[in-house]
Amino acid sequence: MSDVSNYEQVYKTWQDDPEGFWATEAKELSWSKSWDKVFDESQDAYGRWFAGAECNTCYNAVDRHVEDGRGEQAAIIYDSPVTGTKQTYSYVEVKSEVEALAAALQDQGVTKGDRVLIYMPMVPEAAFAMLASARLGAVHSVVFGGFAANELAIRIDDCAPKVIISASCGIEPNRVIAYKPLLDEAIELSKNKPDACIILQREQQTCDLIDCRDIDYKDITNVHKTAGSVVPCVAVAATDPLYVLYTSGTTGTPKGVVRDNGGHMVALNWSMGAIYDIKPNEVFWAASDVGWVVGHSYIVYGPLIKGATTIMFEGKPVGTPDAGTFWRIVEEYKVSALFTAPTALRAIKKEDHQGAFLKPYDVSSLRTLFLAGERADPDTIQWAEDLLNIPVIDHWWQTETGWAIAGNPVGLGKLPVKLGSPTVAMPGYDIQIVDDAGNPVPAGGFGNIIVKLPLPPGCFPTLWNADERFRSAYLEAFPGYYQTSDAGLKDEDGYLFIMARTDDIINVAGHRLSTGGMEEVLVSHPDVIECAVIGIADKLKGQLPCGFVVLKSDHEKSPEEIEKECVQLVREKIGAVAAFKLCVTVARLPKTRSGKILRGTMRSIADKEEYKIPATIDDPVILEEITAVMKSKGIG
Ligand code: COA
Ligand code: AMP
Repeated sequence: MSDVSNYEQVYKTWQDDPEGFWATEAKELSWSKSWDKVFDESQDAYGRWFAGAECNTCYNAVDRHVEDGRGEQAAIIYDSPVTGTKQTYSYVEVKSEVEALAAALQDQGVTKGDRVLIYMPMVPEAAFAMLASARLGAVHSVVFGGFAANELAIRIDDCAPKVIISASCGIEPNRVIAYKPLLDEAIELSKNKPDACIILQREQQTCDLIDCRDIDYKDITNVHKTAGSVVPCVAVAATDPLYVLYTSGTTGTPKGVVRDNGGHMVALNWSMGAIYDIKPNEVFWAASDVGWVVGHSYIVYGPLIKGATTIMFEGKPVGTPDAGTFWRIVEEYKVSALFTAPTALRAIKKEDHQGAFLKPYDVSSLRTLFLAGERADPDTIQWAEDLLNIPVIDHWWQTETGWAIAGNPVGLGKLPVKLGSPTVAMPGYDIQIVDDAGNPVPAGGFGNIIVKLPLPPGCFPTLWNADERFRSAYLEAFPGYYQTSDAGLKDEDGYLFIMARTDDIINVAGHRLSTGGMEEVLVSHPDVIECAVIGIADKLKGQLPCGFVVLKSDHEKSPEEIEKECVQLVREKIGAVAAFKLCVTVARLPKTRSGKILRGTMRSIADKEEYKIPATIDDPVILEEITAVMKSKGIG
């Protein structure tokens, strides 16, 4: 890694000729048909990349490397401290696993364009499932294991999968989570029933299979391995969807972010070298989950498309078994770059501030530590840098973009780090800061962060089955620009600082959650008349949700009972991942005269920030009441 950066030159090359820039990068990949236009501005909401081209993402991530002589290289390393399992799959072995599963999907009639939903823990079979779907030109939708049946059902209904691939259980450090009852309940709840479910039986807890619907994963893939079933990669349009990944929106209905095939592989391939400084052969580890976009881009597709080795880690930064797990993995597999969420580092720091758990390990292979998913607080970055003595690089992106909007592209030579900043715009992104009317804000001023259209390859072209929502949520507020819904500033050197969301999304342990979705659950409680959920600052998880409920005058149960039931309800309806544990009864909620709940002001009180009483407030006394209730609960 060099400290002389080519960033400016590369960014300028892109600015001068965006299409030429991406066409050059696209030549690194294999296409079954070349594009008619690098960028066709006439297609869809803001144009499409590599229009007319055909390709297959699984071919580029797997077969291409086998054909190029990389077959014996490790492709996926599975390391699971929670089950005591370690297993390495070479590219040839991944191909065989993927082909067998693709054959099983074909048996169920899955063809190009069909949806395959994947609800799995962090096991290699989850990656095989994604690749098998991609191989057939089908569209996968991975649902994070921490979501409850109801959330799963919403996703099943939206994408209508022909087949669901799941597992008997997931393993959290403190318990085994039976996935199958959740899956069965979700299918029961949903209108769009899948034709079949392929279930991976895990020895930690097996499950009953339902006749005529459920198929044993191992049995069926073994049949195809024995038969030597050959499943060629199906060529799809570069603009065809590779996957749909649901993420939180402002309402309880999640947004199905669509990723295409062509632009996605070009952007990820570029990012692996330029942003992460990874060469084929090297080991890249994104300590995330395949249920999130980081897992899609940088556990599965990015490293494999690049021909590198990726790690699937089934464990936590602490407690599996201790705060040295990350460092053990770095030593054992000679990891060159690690990508994790700041919250994971804060968890390690909390247990091992002095680095005693790091000491036994040789982590000299590690060149860079990348952070994303939430704002990286300067204390944590500084602590990690002091501990590891390597650059700790924050970068900013979203499920919608699929790769970094802003970063410090160490593969082009590292730029100076400014603590608290994810550094500068990546090629492909023209980032501007504007006020609510769309007027540019001078350097250093706070405002909405927007990106000039078109978005670069790899970013979402639309939302699944929701073109209109795509336009209204992202393109309408600032015509000609993509609204990121993040707010912050850009200094005179072009360094960005991402400070807050402009919508009701909160970030809990690097997980993106909608407070609106939680409010929908709370008001469904028979004794709750209205409510507000806010994210309050938390030292470990960044933010934690806190619900304020107003009870109906004739409520029968005690407020304490109702609060407990509300906590349970959010866990049942959304899932444990919501980490909703704080629920407080209040007599009334502070509102503007037009009836808008003053969530921002409540958050300021909870976070002990200075705030001005909004001029439009209906009754300022309510703020005093809320402050007193929060104090009594140790909040604020
Ligand atoms: N399946 C089922 N349940 C799950 C789950 C899964 N895949 N993942 C998490 N959960 C559950 C947890 O068991 C926990 O339940 P609990 O309330 O009964 O304890 C709850 O969801 C919250 O989980 P989590 O956010 O992981 O909190 P934690 O306290 O168990 O661990 C951290 C805290 C900081 C160690 C952990 O959040 C972490 O490693 N975060 C990194 C996040 C990350 O990588 N994000 C991706 C963006 S890069
Ligand atoms: P997700 O779509 O789950 O990846 O979440 C995206 C959101 O997480 C962004 O819109 C930001 O609010 C936040 N986020 C992600 N990375 C960063 C970062 N490096 N700095 C600040 N916020 C971040």
